Amino acid sequence: MPVILAIESSCDDTSAAVVADGLVLSNVTAGQAVHEEFGGVVPEHASRAHQRNIVPTVAVALKRAAKTAAQIDAVAFTRGPGLIGSLMVGVSFAKGFALARGLPLIEVDHMQAHVLAHFAEDPKPAFPFLCLTVSGGHTQLVVVHSALEQEIIGRTIDDAAGEAFDKSGKLLGLPYPAGPEIDRRARLGQPTIEFAKPDPGELNFSFSGLKTSILYSLQKKIKEDPDFVKDNLNDICASIQHIIVSILLRKIQMAVAQTGLKQVALAGGVSANSGLRQGLQELGEKNGWKVFIPRIEYCTDNAAMIGVTATFKFAEGAFSGQDVAPAARF
Ligand code: KG4
Ligand code: ZN
Repeated sequence: MPVILAIESSCDDTSAAVVADGLVLSNVTAGQAVHEEFGGVVPEHASRAHQRNIVPTVAVALKRAAKTAAQIDAVAFTRGPGLIGSLMVGVSFAKGFALARGLPLIEVDHMQAHVLAHFAEDPKPAFPFLCLTVSGGHTQLVVVHSALEQEIIGRTIDDAAGEAFDKSGKLLGLPYPAGPEIDRRARLGQPTIEFAKPDPGELNFSFSGLKTSILYSLQKKIKEDPDFVKDNLNDICASIQHIIVSILLRKIQMAVAQTGLKQVALAGGVSANSGLRQGLQELGEKNGWKVFIPRIEYCTDNAAMIGVTATFKFAEGAFSGQDVAPAARF
């Protein structure tokens, strides 16, 4: 049974995990505070921070798993999608480690891995199931036929749900990433402000118009009262969260109606959102669905999900050559 060292470096988290026969022995993530002051991820800073963090992060992951490099059977890494300079660091590290120890390499699709994060803990969904993957870069409705057979049935045509949180937060002067802060404030406020709800039809999403709608509606209120944002920040956050969550839940309902699937899972950084987690739980109870929501550690970017995905690929002998290169998008 394979012991896999997994590396994730697609965006601004450097993460390493040791996964033995699908069981997560360690999962260590180094975040990057450097981006906060810039209001978004600065690719060059991200690459440099990965370069600094990767060796110590792997060392801690091995130590926590009580494994030595000699006990690793394969090295898994995120090949993409993501920032090319960030991916390059993880891919190069994985290649070097594999070459030095004569180990097989396993490339992993970051989006597939978000979905398979559900197999890092119990209870696990049974195939097939429906998964909404919502992160800073992606918003996808996926029918998961089997671990490696994932069919995208809906996607965003512009911004991702996480971007909608982060860009709205930027308008309010909140630090990057604004999602967690909007969530915290939303719990202290009421959704009193209405925004236009963009809908590109079918199972697709559109969030770029929402940001404009929020901007115009705030500009109007600020004209009447210059302190409007400062005095109503919690209600504004609650309103933003309410509209984003209601868009996501509505499309989940449509996807369930269309596919007939009664197991519904959430994945990606935005599934850490308390309104979305609670909203889906309630919908599940009302409609008799089985709902799967990973613990927060497995919602945001992490290497455990890379190791779990690689375990499925190891079983199929799906290895990569030393000539593999990262892909910003597939
Ligand atoms: O999956 P992830 O860690 O990285 C990407 O692959 O993008 O997702 C990061 C996104 C960010 O946009 C962040 O604001 C959002 O997840 N996020 C949240 C919450 N926690 C993280 N959005 C809303 N509520 C949260 N509690
Ligand atoms: Zn991600």
